[in-house]
Amino acid sequence: MSVLPRESKTSIDTSAKRVEAPELSEAPLKAMGKPAREFKLGNLNLNGRVFLAPMAGYTDTAFRRLARRYGAAMVITEMVSSRALINGNENSNDKSKELMEFTEPERPVGVQLFGGDPGIMGEAAARVVKEVHPDVIDINFGCPVGKILKCDAGAAILKEPQRAGWIVKAMVEATGGKVPITVKTRGGYDAMDNAVFEVLEAVQEAGASALAVHARTRNQMFEGKANWEVIKNLKKKAQIPIIGNGDVKCAEDAYKLFNETGCDGIMIGRGSMGAPWIFEEINHYLETGKPLGPPSLKFKIGIALEQLKCSIEVKGPRMGLLEMRKHLSHYLKGFEGARDMRQRLLTSDDTDWVVKTLTEIFESIPDGAAVLPQA
Ligand SMILES: Cc1cc2nc3c(=O)[nH]c(=O)nc-3n(C[C@H](O)[C@H](O)[C@H](O)COP(=O)(O)O)c2cc1C
Repeated sequence: MSVLPRESKTSIDTSAKRVEAPELSEAPLKAMGKPAREFKLGNLNLNGRVFLAPMAGYTDTAFRRLARRYGAAMVITEMVSSRALINGNENSNDKSKELMEFTEPERPVGVQLFGGDPGIMGEAAARVVKEVHPDVIDINFGCPVGKILKCDAGAAILKEPQRAGWIVKAMVEATGGKVPITVKTRGGYDAMDNAVFEVLEAVQEAGASALAVHARTRNQMFEGKANWEVIKNLKKKAQIPIIGNGDVKCAEDAYKLFNETGCDGIMIGRGSMGAPWIFEEINHYLETGKPLGPPSLKFKIGIALEQLKCSIEVKGPRMGLLEMRKHLSHYLKGFEGARDMRQRLLTSDDTDWVVKTLTEIFESIPDGAAVLPQA
């Protein structure tokens, strides 16, 4: 399917979460002294500063391809267990391989590893580089989930920040500096204390190429508002790029995160669900100071259909549809008739019927329409 045209700025925006950004008098990133289309991660040159955050269960190949097409400067895979990769049985090995595979249009792409043992993380990094040749290896030091913390992985590192340095060092050595090693963590474990600053010191000393920070504590999980203050304070101390993350849902949020913290790049997670075009909207706003205008309903449904087809092609009819349901629940939101559409499309197990019905809906929408035509 070809890329669909965007609707003009005068169209009605019916999406619940979208807020139109105010026009700015100057190009925001330029005014901050940050070229919008330049970003260096170690030796890797990226052509933007806005990244897709890794999200287990969401940022699979179908979604990453769309995020890259619509301007994400880099995408990152779902997290892969270093232990399963090195010590796993055939089953867990297959699962890890599936998670770390990507296609060429996704580049630049990072494979994200989690684990707590420097030796195993090093071995896993070397294996990933040898087998799939990613552009970056990212480390998950932020996952708040109990079963990950039990393996001393994810946000558990904030309890023992020096270990973050040992892990990065082992990975840099094992990969011979072939790819940048980046780190993603949280603002703290149970409080925003000194731990994240110790993580920063340890990982930059060990050779990490950037630090991304989700500005919540582990205990907050995904609740409450992200506290960007921690990003601002890390930026003041850092010698490596700081990537801010948390609660960016529109172009104006992106601008504010750059402006209020001075961070070098930003990462978008939930704001991209059902809206992989958000990167284009943000890039345009950051480059020009002008909002791009909302995409048409036809565009949105067209992208949902494209992702559904890709998901089926990669994962097969059953899993492809099942895994796409949560994405469809985001795409099919914020316009008249969406609820009914969700009820019909998200409860059917008949993959062919879902594709056929969504295709018919897509074809029935006139170009530029903001609401569904009545049947
Ligand atoms: C469903 C879901 C899965 C996630 N999986 C991962 C993951 O695998 N690795 C990781 O580093 N962060 C993961 N995160 C955290 C996000 O990358 C991001 O830090 C967080 O959602 C805050 O950013 P946001 O407000 O833009 O969503 C996940 C978040 C969500 C909502």
